[in-house]
Amino acid sequence: MSDLEDARRIRIGQTWLELVLGDITQQDADAIVNAANSSLLGGGGVDGAIHRAAGPQLLEETRKLGGCPTGEARITRGYNLKARYVIHAVGPVYQPGSPRNQALLASAYRSSLELAVQYGLRSLAFPSISTGAYGYPLEEAAPVALQTVCDFIAAPTSLEWVRFVLFNALALAVYTQALQMILRRQRADSEPA
Ligand code: APR
Repeated sequence: MSDLEDARRIRIGQTWLELVLGDITQQDADAIVNAANSSLLGGGGVDGAIHRAAGPQLLEETRKLGGCPTGEARITRGYNLKARYVIHAVGPVYQPGSPRNQALLASAYRSSLELAVQYGLRSLAFPSISTGAYGYPLEEAAPVALQTVCDFIAAPTSLEWVRFVLFNALALAVYTQALQMILRRQRADSEPA
């Protein structure tokens, strides 16, 4: 496989990390992650697509959750989706120059992973959280998202695979390059001084 393809499917610890192009609502994973807002009452983008695909029962359930702070996540059933569960993660609205962006974005990914493991899930699909309506530049978000996931799955978990489902070729290219950079840095760090 070419280095590029290598960077789209790598094994970290006991878990495969994959980057694919596609529509997250079609993913056959134990859970898909929704790029939600703090009300958890739906919206556009990924949120709108997931609510449309899951059906009205999803909103009935999320309505009972009373919202979710930025950087945290909540889990519901998946209803008409192939996925058994939806993990609703609230990423930050990008504030240029704010040091909080990175910490809140990493926290949204980590909270989602923690919920998945708490439920013993074996597979999880992420969208590129906060890089749409919330304005987080792809080039800044991708390294944060990938490093957070890589750090989490380096230790044994229930997860057999974690997949990033990118909605367009540009996002896939940016995430692929970011993952290659992480891999190169890890290889360099592991070489004898
Ligand atoms: N599958 C995978 N990725 C998708 C899909 C889809 N069906 N639809 C959109 N995306 C991509 C976008 O291209 C973007 O890269 O998901 C990323 C996140 O975009 P948004 O859905 O706009 O999410 P976000 O930037 O986190 O903003 C959240 O938008 O939809 C509202 O209710 C939501 O208020 C919240 C805000």
